[in-house]
Amino acid sequence: MYSTWDKLLLQRKESASLRKLSINASETDFLSNDYLGMARNKVFHKKMLETIQSDPTILAGSTGSRLISGQSAEVHETESILEQKHRTESALLFASGYAANLTLFSCLPQRQDTIIVDEYIHRSVHDGCVMSKAIKWKFRHNNLEDLEAKLKRARGLCFVAVESLYSMEGDFAPLTEIAKLTDKYGASLIVDEAHAFGVFGYGLVHQLGLQNSVFATLITYGKAMGSHGAALLCSKLIKTYLINFGSPFIYSTALPDLIWRQIRMGYEFLDNHPALASNLRHNIRLFRTQQVPTISGTDSPIQSLIVPDNKQLLNLKNSLSEKGLQTYAVFSPTVKLGTERLRICLHTFNQKNDILLLTQSIKSSLDL
Ligand SMILES: Cc1ncc(COP(=O)(O)O)c(C=O)c1O
Repeated sequence: MYSTWDKLLLQRKESASLRKLSINASETDFLSNDYLGMARNKVFHKKMLETIQSDPTILAGSTGSRLISGQSAEVHETESILEQKHRTESALLFASGYAANLTLFSCLPQRQDTIIVDEYIHRSVHDGCVMSKAIKWKFRHNNLEDLEAKLKRARGLCFVAVESLYSMEGDFAPLTEIAKLTDKYGASLIVDEAHAFGVFGYGLVHQLGLQNSVFATLITYGKAMGSHGAALLCSKLIKTYLINFGSPFIYSTALPDLIWRQIRMGYEFLDNHPALASNLRHNIRLFRTQQVPTISGTDSPIQSLIVPDNKQLLNLKNSLSEKGLQTYAVFSPTVKLGTERLRICLHTFNQKNDILLLTQSIKSSLDL
């Protein structure tokens, strides 16, 4: 019986793509999603510590699902604040972005409906679709003609899922054009802002003023916010529906109040410290001037360099690590075979010297 799994693991080993858990070394961080350095921000930590000291009960576990004993005044208040900040009718908080996407896609589309997803959409959306009875189609990445062709053929209610900033490509969805298309065909647009939130204010839907054209927006707090959890921004009706029919929301213990408070305080901190995002933009510009041929957007904190040879990719990642530079090698099946890549995350706290060491090391290692 074990031989099936053994064989699959052996295949991964042979293709140099075996995944392993490793403790974060104290290398220079070009790896994490902590784009604004909030997870390491000592001033923010101090504020959190003061909050805990003034009311240690905030550390308590939530004791149950939000429908049983886990619904606190804290989570309720945080949702109200999110509604005001994002100018949305309703906000529903979740334990993670993964849980939020599972909830949304598993229970909203019905058997007769169609879900159309960008081919590079996050795995949590695909997993949610597997739990749904609706049909799922992929459209070619950021390709408006392909999306339109699929919209024309959709049956039942149609949902379109995109990321505003793609996590593995570091490129942007043409959100305004996609919103025009979904409007034209009466489809419901769902935008995952996991990587855009915080880096681009409250996200690109908010910045572009697209709230009225978007059916639901996912914000996550484990990346630029340096915390945990996620929010779905949607209508009151959809919030009520998810609370009633969304299994991953219903059958799971709520996060502790500390996290909801951290999210609220995180918004306030980001509002008061615009330099965090502007320093990040500065670092992105510096990286881009070094002309490493990534596939990513000019303004993106995620810069991905395609290195389709797994061994070469692993060597590159290891050689950077030997210089104290932590990056991420992304293999198939996380990305399509032949598009394996080095994923570089830029941060507000990265130093000029480290960015230059990184870009020069990559170029010399790959003979660019
Ligand atoms: C695009 C995207 N959506 C959703 C998620 C899931 O969010 P979380 O880490 O909060 O579960 C991630 C995390 O990797 C992501 O990159």
